[in-house]
Amino acid sequence: MYFLGLETSCDETAAAVFTDELAVLSSVVASQTDLHARFGGVVPEIASRAHVRNLLPVVDEALNTAGITLRDIGCVAVHNTPGLVGALLIGVSAAKMLALGLGVPLVAVNHVHGHVFACRLAAGRDIFPCVGLVVSGGHTALFRCDTALSLTLLGGTRDDAAGEAFDKVAAVLGLGFPGGPAVEREAAGGDPAAYRFPRAFLDDGRLEFSFSGVKTAVLYACHGQDVSRATPPPPGKKRADLAASFQAAVVDVLVTKCKQALRKTGLTRLAVGGGVSANRPLRAALQAMCAKEGAELFIPPLSLCTDNAAMAALAVEKWKRGEFAPADVDAEPNWL
Ligand code: KG4
Ligand code: ZN
Repeated sequence: MYFLGLETSCDETAAAVFTDELAVLSSVVASQTDLHARFGGVVPEIASRAHVRNLLPVVDEALNTAGITLRDIGCVAVHNTPGLVGALLIGVSAAKMLALGLGVPLVAVNHVHGHVFACRLAAGRDIFPCVGLVVSGGHTALFRCDTALSLTLLGGTRDDAAGEAFDKVAAVLGLGFPGGPAVEREAAGGDPAAYRFPRAFLDDGRLEFSFSGVKTAVLYACHGQDVSRATPPPPGKKRADLAASFQAAVVDVLVTKCKQALRKTGLTRLAVGGGVSANRPLRAALQAMCAKEGAELFIPPLSLCTDNAAMAALAVEKWKRGEFAPADVDAEPNWL
């Protein structure tokens, strides 16, 4: 049976075709990065309008690549939470219309849970129970995942998400948007030990995160206390060292918290998803930690780390249980 999945929670318009056996036949992503770059971040109204323009062409491409037509779709899946409400609404409205028009069920799934499920998709086998870490632009959270659909929050961020910190540090360093890949590139030429940036809650047993302190520490290390007229630093050793030291602090926190979560839960599998999990030094450090702890690491290829609609295949699990969305299902910006 074929599913059509839709994703419009932030600034990627995505559609995917997958089967009830979790085979992904196509996954198409139209990124809006160029539209938001000059503003240094995602502008919600621009994102919503771009979703309206991009969604149907993206759906067409997903169907064509899969070699099927709309008539072959037996269920429509959509991420309805969390995200920018105006952006989510485009995907939710389109999904309702398609399901109604085709006379097939609609299943609504949680985008953050989908990031963990991307690990299941990439693994091609069961990964549950596991500890799940979702690190994206909007969320940083550790879960105990007993099944694909029963996730218990072990700890979230008290302020900024990890990806948000990457994006803001990139802005401070004048590296452009989106910040994560730019900081990673810059950090490759720097010394991660040049600055000792704060690592919040590292040893106090809490599985919570805070990234606003490290972001401000980078700002002050870059410009001193008077940041009112600060301009980004020129390319060179200082900028690379700041990027590398910041990245090292974030990686250190994320890896240590994952280790603590594995030990606390007694689980031996770790699944990591969300845009920040595309970060190569983070992937390497998680790999090393898991090898040492005797845990199995599940981390998807880069295309399944950042936002996509294939991860809406979590809907297959709900569909199997007959958990369909009512016709008045809404977009829900908050997830807790
Ligand atoms: O999951 P995602 O695509 O969208 C959200 O649901 O937020 O994550 C986007 C975030 C952005 O903050 C971006 O800067 C970050 O993921 N990111 C990275 C890397 N690639 C993307 N952060 C660090 N290193 C990367 N290579
Ligand atoms: Zn995401």
